[in-house]
Amino acid sequence: MAECLSATASAIEKAGVALREGRLVAFPTETVYGLGADATNDRAVARIFEAKGRPRFNPLIVHLSSLAEAARHCMFNADAERLARAFWPGGLTLVLPRRQDTPLSLLVSAGLDTVALRVPAHEVAQALLKAAGRPIAAPSANPSGKVSPTNATHVMEGLGSAPALAIVLDGGSCPLGLESTVIGFPDGVPTLFRPGAVAREEIEMVLGRKLADADATAGEEGRASPGQLESHYAPDSLLRLDATSVRAEEALLAFGPNAPHTAISMNLSPTGDLTEAAANLFAMLRALDIQAAGRVIAVSPIPMTGLGEAINDRLKRAAAPRN
Ligand code: TXA
Ligand code: MG
Repeated sequence: MAECLSATASAIEKAGVALREGRLVAFPTETVYGLGADATNDRAVARIFEAKGRPRFNPLIVHLSSLAEAARHCMFNADAERLARAFWPGGLTLVLPRRQDTPLSLLVSAGLDTVALRVPAHEVAQALLKAAGRPIAAPSANPSGKVSPTNATHVMEGLGSAPALAIVLDGGSCPLGLESTVIGFPDGVPTLFRPGAVAREEIEMVLGRKLADADATAGEEGRASPGQLESHYAPDSLLRLDATSVRAEEALLAFGPNAPHTAISMNLSPTGDLTEAAANLFAMLRALDIQAAGRVIAVSPIPMTGLGEAINDRLKRAAAPRN
């Protein structure tokens, strides 16, 4: 069983040692908890795929302490640099061409010639990067296809018994609660690969133009972002989206002040605040999944503006037919 430690300075030191030894460490970021490995160690990175049951074609995000360090591993274009300066440290991931001489494991790119990079803002994540002294590859710390973890208990429930996982650093609940926004540059065009913690509108403001959509640029055989599988973030219960009323036998995941009343229900944000809803989404999906005990979960409509785009994206995948 992994050790779950409060994220004190000494626990972070210990976790840094475990990473350098090639073992896995789960840690909080401002978005969700990550399952980390030394990104320069092939065997360590391979253990991430094993622990999560993650398909090998799905590449990983590499976490770094600064933009200067990121620039040692891949080539920034002017738009990417502008976005990094505006949003790092924070919930934005940039997919960029690898440098020839980068020591990053090829496994993090899963066969692509690009790598996804992010500088996290969470102080525990930053302290861990410093303690490890190397880049950390980290997907969300959940079994592949399941709901992402926003606290240490979620991580222990999903991956606590994974043999390679040495330590879970407990740094409380993640303040944003949704994964980073992923931006790539196919043919040099800034493209939204995955909506997330930084809203499209904020990014377009910095770029001074609209983002392209990944669906439009990905061909039949290749998706721009291989991780965007249809079914994902899946609770055990089935979901019914955009529900304006709730049926007698259903549980309810509500949003806003005018939620219908029913016995089993949680409200993402009674005031209709999308930032609050994003922070609550995964924890409430988990809690309601247990309470629903096999009932369908009806989900209130969520507006598509700001963080609503990412919330709707996760709900759509949670509701998708399972394989
Ligand atoms: O907030 C986050 O992004 C969290 C925390 C831990 O940083 N991490 C996370 O990782 O959500 P993961 O592995 O669950 O999602 C990474 C996404 C996937 O959709 C993956 O396909 C995409 O990023 N991705 C990674 N590398 C890529 C690449 N080279 N090209 C295109 N997409 C890439
Ligand atoms: Mg994930």
